[in-house]
Amino acid sequence: MTRRIAGSLLAGACAAPYDRAVNATTFDLRPNPRPHTDADRHKVLENPGFGRFFTDNMVVLRYAEGQGWGRGALEAYAPISLDPAASALHYGQAIFEGFKAYRTDAGGVVTFRPDANARRFARSAERLAMPALPVETFVAAADALISHERAWVPTQPGTSLYLRPLMIATEGVLGVRPAHEYLFLLFASPAGAYFSGGVKPVSVWISEDYVRASPGGTGTAKCAGNYAASLVAQRDALAKGCDQVVWIDAVERKWIEEMGGMNVMFVYEAGGKPLLVTPDLTSGTLLPGITRDSLLTLARDRDWQAVERRISVDELTSDIASGKLKEAFACGTAAVITPIGSVKSSRGAWTVAEGQPGKVTMDLREQLLSLQHGRAPDPHGWVHPVC
Ligand code: PLP
Ligand code: COI
Repeated sequence: MTRRIAGSLLAGACAAPYDRAVNATTFDLRPNPRPHTDADRHKVLENPGFGRFFTDNMVVLRYAEGQGWGRGALEAYAPISLDPAASALHYGQAIFEGFKAYRTDAGGVVTFRPDANARRFARSAERLAMPALPVETFVAAADALISHERAWVPTQPGTSLYLRPLMIATEGVLGVRPAHEYLFLLFASPAGAYFSGGVKPVSVWISEDYVRASPGGTGTAKCAGNYAASLVAQRDALAKGCDQVVWIDAVERKWIEEMGGMNVMFVYEAGGKPLLVTPDLTSGTLLPGITRDSLLTLARDRDWQAVERRISVDELTSDIASGKLKEAFACGTAAVITPIGSVKSSRGAWTVAEGQPGKVTMDLREQLLSLQHGRAPDPHGWVHPVC
């Protein structure tokens, strides 16, 4: 018989203060009959890296036109079978998200602003003419999976359990139109640092040959196609000896936008305090990062100036050269906050902050991680207790 589980309220998991909407979403429980042994799991958790290992279970939900979302289930993490004509494979209706579950010092497990990821997922769905998954279902699916996979949440500093929700069009039909059937999956992967060097400063390559997003395109959506289009540019960046690509705008080819899988922030000084500058979102071509938004808020809470505006490659490179720009960093769920130590383009190479992690960068990183691990006060209610 199938057991039912409600969001976080799994049998055996600890209860947490949820609102009723979240608990109202339940999933059939058909867990993996052959999960990893404790010894195998511990071995993985000793050095998880990023995106290399997956936990024993996933959440599965299907949608059909006219019927809406069906009953979800937690079941074994396993390959899925797809009709070769499935629209996702041809016309690219595929979106995803990324957020993390963290251990707290008190021994609990929390997520950080999962509702913001849920809302961005719904916006991505809308842009790709896919059905929106209700925010409370998204959050409850994550709570259910994390509660079940609690033992997979690593404990060492700098580690977490990365959650990867995705939705693909599964209807097997040829013809360019929105599909009538979709599959939502949510799986989890224990995570250490995204970059192999940890928080060592990264080098970035400003790509002048490729474009990530143009006005009216899909740049603000977290859709698979954006990443497919980025791969050659990222390959170029690696070939130039850099860790990550930096995108510039498609129209004037001069404004800094973001990086391959993260937003970018520049640290200046104003009135004896740090001043953060990050590209604004008005062009509709950047992914509105939840880490970006959180850092702007945290900076303003500290009475620092945090400015969203256009910044050109010329301004950036001349500010680095003159020393006006003090620090630069990448920010995103996977990257957390990673210092940028050098910037390269076809026109030259510039070293930022003497190639060392900047003080403001590391200070913000520590503040963000303290908040995410429940070690700091949470005035904005961003931390979501799971179990
Ligand atoms: N930009 C891109 C292209 C990304 O893939 C990501 C990661 O999700 C981000 C920015 C940062 O977003 P977030 O802070 O929500 O993880
Ligand atoms: C994330 O930060 O969660 C992403 O999805 C970006 C990807 C580079 C892993």
